[in-house]
Amino acid sequence: MFPIEDFTGVVTPFYYYDIKLLRETLTAINDCLAERPAYRVHYALKANANGAILDEIADAGLGADCVSGGEVRAALDAGIPADKVVFAGVGKTEAEIRLGLENGIACFNVESLPELEVINELAGDMGKKAPVAFRVNPDIDAHTHKYITTGTSENKFGIPLTQIEEVVAAAQGMDNVEIKGLHFHIGSQLLDMTPYAMLAETINRMLDEWEAKGISFKTINVGGGLGIDYDDPDGHPIPDFEGYFKVFDAIKLRDGQELHFELGRAVVAQFGSLITRVTYVKQGVNRKFAIVDAGFTDLIRPALYQAHHNIENLTAPADAPVEKYDVVGPICESTDCFARDEKLREVKRGDLLALRSAGAYGQIMASRYNLREIPASFYDLPGESKLTSKI
Ligand code: LLP
Repeated sequence: MFPIEDFTGVVTPFYYYDIKLLRETLTAINDCLAERPAYRVHYALKANANGAILDEIADAGLGADCVSGGEVRAALDAGIPADKVVFAGVGKTEAEIRLGLENGIACFNVESLPELEVINELAGDMGKKAPVAFRVNPDIDAHTHKYITTGTSENKFGIPLTQIEEVVAAAQGMDNVEIKGLHFHIGSQLLDMTPYAMLAETINRMLDEWEAKGISFKTINVGGGLGIDYDDPDGHPIPDFEGYFKVFDAIKLRDGQELHFELGRAVVAQFGSLITRVTYVKQGVNRKFAIVDAGFTDLIRPALYQAHHNIENLTAPADAPVEKYDVVGPICESTDCFARDEKLREVKRGDLLALRSAGAYGQIMASRYNLREIPASFYDLPGESKLTSKI
């Protein structure tokens, strides 16, 4: 499936993006949405904000979920209309809030009372009314990696259920905010739908309670988090969006109410691979190392979350013997290891390896540690191919 002949002469490591697969993924999402007119998907830019990718997202009509002024700007630059841009994050600065207000974004997902007060003040100064949703921490354990669980009371995200009434009441008393909705996000890389079913139940209960108090919300935003199959990217190149959306069909939406989603990984993970060249094969005492020219500066997920990305030898002939390798990078840290005991067709110096499912939280999390270069992007566009280093 990889156009290896096109890789000749390209400086490694680099990210290879299969735009055809991205388009198919976006079509799969839109097919589900076509049957659910009240549902809207805002792509979470944090997963990958390359310009060429945002153009595809904009063309598919998705909105944008942003967590910084930089992301708000990138979404608008890509042509995503401001009324489809939402802005979340626990630490929005004044400059970032002003940027959102100036551009008339759809919603600020507010994570605390002090933040709400600042938004109200700044909107007042600018003669505007800020649309706000309250990010609720529903205390649901998504049972995902502890670094990417966000919906339990142990972490910094959202307003605790016990404080939400107080914050909504405060907003009602403010002149420069307009209450739009409720926002939730319980974690990332969820493959079990049970936590989502629990979230849907919690939301139904909350909607009844708020309705009894005479408060209604135009939007309910359930965040993102749908996982992908890192073990079998070819078997499951497109996540089961239908199964995912179906869980949320249990939410009893009121007339005119919209259900919003913020998918990141599920949209872009599978269409990206990190392509790296083997610099040396080294025989240790008990282990064989494939030393590659990519490191955790290019793809930090294995080092940071003990994540595993499938690895393939693109150069070895199909009938080459399979052996076990520790695939490691050149960075002077022992966490710079992509996989231990990875089964690969016999690896030789100069071979190209693909680290699969790297389209999300790959290139965007790259750093220049050790003064390494940020990897370039190679887009495989149906009908043409071109190299860009847009980041
Ligand atoms: N909405 C909010 C409020 C979020 O915090 C996140 C992700 C998303 C949406 C998108 O989640 P997704 O659909 O992509 O799971 N770097 C980590 C993942 C961090 C996710 C942070 N928040 C990783 O590589 O696994």
